[in-house]
Amino acid sequence: MEGKVTVLISEEDVEKRITELAGEISRDYAGKEVLFVCILKGSIFFTTALAKHMSVPVTFDFMSVSSYGDATVSSGRVKIIKDLDDSIEGKDVIVIEDIIDSGRTLDHLLRLLEVRKPHSIKLCTLLDKPDRREIDVKVDYVGFTIPDAFVVGYGLDYKQHYRNLPYVGVLHLNED
Ligand code: IMP
Ligand code: MG
Repeated sequence: MEGKVTVLISEEDVEKRITELAGEISRDYAGKEVLFVCILKGSIFFTTALAKHMSVPVTFDFMSVSSYGDATVSSGRVKIIKDLDDSIEGKDVIVIEDIIDSGRTLDHLLRLLEVRKPHSIKLCTLLDKPDRREIDVKVDYVGFTIPDAFVVGYGLDYKQHYRNLPYVGVLHLNED
């Protein structure tokens, strides 16, 4: 691809932190069952890694969304590409995201899911870029807070590439 990737968070550090987060979430949900709502495609690596270390029962569903229209539209609407397979009514839901940037995607998504009457809904993200926040979304579990850089790996992509890197890296695009 057309750029160079430098390591921001090593594979070892990512996995160590995910294990810690799974412990924290498992303690918070002791005696309950949680439904992980994985936001495709960026969250698949994080979702499965997290789930492997959970000590309470976990079920999964998947949703794919895309930001609506061009960048000048600041409505924050998202288009559902693939909806959940099953109802979330009465369930303890955790939405699993790869990264929160402006917060628009998540803000819209949470509103959309809250209408479906889950028993509870929380948000868990691997990465948080607070410097770029436009909408204040309440994030319950954060893996790492990172500076404002474009990152790839551990599920995150640039034009669909780099998702399978086992670490999180900063992408430096070649200028030509
Ligand atoms: P938000 O609505 O601005 O919070 O958009 C978040 C979405 O933008 C994420 O789910 C990613 O798909 C994408 N995104 C934001 N920052 C990055 C990045 O640094 N690398 C890769 N994708 C990103
Ligand atoms: Mg995404």
